[in-house]
Amino acid sequence: MASAETGESRLPCPLFHSGLRLAPGTGNSRQGDLHGTESRGARAHSVLHRHGRAAGGQREDGGRRACPAPGGRPARHAGTGGGAQGSAHRARLLRLGYTDSLGIPRLRKRIARHYMETYGTEVDPDRIAVTAGSSAGFLLSFLAAFEPGDRVALAAPGYPAYRNILKALGLEAVLLPAGPEERFQPTPELIEQAGKLDGLILASPSNPTGTMVDKDTLGRIVDCCRERGIRLVSDEIYHGIEFTRRAVSASELDAEAIIVNSFSKYYSMTGWRLGWLVLPPELVRPIECLAQNLFISPMALSQEAGVAAFDAGKELDGIVQVYAQNRAHLLEHLPAAGFPDLAPADGAFYIYAYSGHLGDDSQALCKRMLDEINVAATPGTDFDPERGHHYIRFSFAGATEEIVEACERLKGWTATS
Ligand SMILES: Cc1ncc(COP(=O)(O)O)c(C=O)c1O
Repeated sequence: MASAETGESRLPCPLFHSGLRLAPGTGNSRQGDLHGTESRGARAHSVLHRHGRAAGGQREDGGRRACPAPGGRPARHAGTGGGAQGSAHRARLLRLGYTDSLGIPRLRKRIARHYMETYGTEVDPDRIAVTAGSSAGFLLSFLAAFEPGDRVALAAPGYPAYRNILKALGLEAVLLPAGPEERFQPTPELIEQAGKLDGLILASPSNPTGTMVDKDTLGRIVDCCRERGIRLVSDEIYHGIEFTRRAVSASELDAEAIIVNSFSKYYSMTGWRLGWLVLPPELVRPIECLAQNLFISPMALSQEAGVAAFDAGKELDGIVQVYAQNRAHLLEHLPAAGFPDLAPADGAFYIYAYSGHLGDDSQALCKRMLDEINVAATPGTDFDPERGHHYIRFSFAGATEEIVEACERLKGWTATS
């Protein structure tokens, strides 16, 4: 079933422990800029500005722009020699090179259209940054929105990379103990109890629980954040994989929120490493500067695929139908297979199951399950260091036959364990 999550022990990478360092191309004399009192966004902005005077990149729309291209940019790209003829699409593919660091205009426009079509929200394409998966989006937005030492809250259980990225950047991850009563999601009450906060990460649907916050609750969370000066970072990577209700985007309620999304889940494009951010206007330029220096640009080929992915709705909804079948099977059969207490799996492709009646060590339980019946689940401790020893996460992203078979194996196994 599930694959192992990003374990805390494997991270964080110490790269950013002592603050942001820009690419070598920015030169030693400029390093001082990065450790002063300016905010990270402003520092990156000023470095880029100077850099931009010396270097230019070719925009997709034909205009010239200030792009530092720190690694140097070849005059010709592989593939441009022979035949950039034929369809406009083929010609574009043959000319693959660096793109605008915020992404190609066609993809940014297409993503903006997606917000109108899906949520009825008008989003200016200029507020969209295309990223190398949502993972790069988190890195960029945490760097731009927060200062070292800032306190950023998130629900426990939650996706482990949030707290690992925060830690790697010198930010404090404040875990909000969200249990079944809170549907494993942050609430205004939990936020108030957490003391002074600078940011809040919300994931709806969530990994590992699949639970979602409804529009009312999201509205209350947005109000609470606004009153307290807390920047909301909304991870909407599982939108489109919804079973019980429509997922609400923070873009519908809060123009100041940072929205993080990706082609990895609904669009099934994990390996293309493509995602996007919807940003409040004041963060666009700082993120552009950071993105230019950290990544130069998102992958050109993946961006072409991203534009096309928006036309694959029928196929993608078919995949969601399979998830829905798998989910229904698990909800029906997991209780008889020894797991009666399940989080409401509103979306995503996970079921978070209580396992405390089978022992106090979910890691050992998952290991035995794998060794003895070859069924994989992820221990809750990956997502919640405090209470995760009493939970395990099943993933139902696989084939229905495997889900059915796993339930059969679990039935006999939990009865004799
Ligand atoms: C909640 C959540 N956010 C973000 C990610 C990162 O995804 P990616 O970098 O592929 O967009 C994942 C991956 O599993 C996830 O579960």
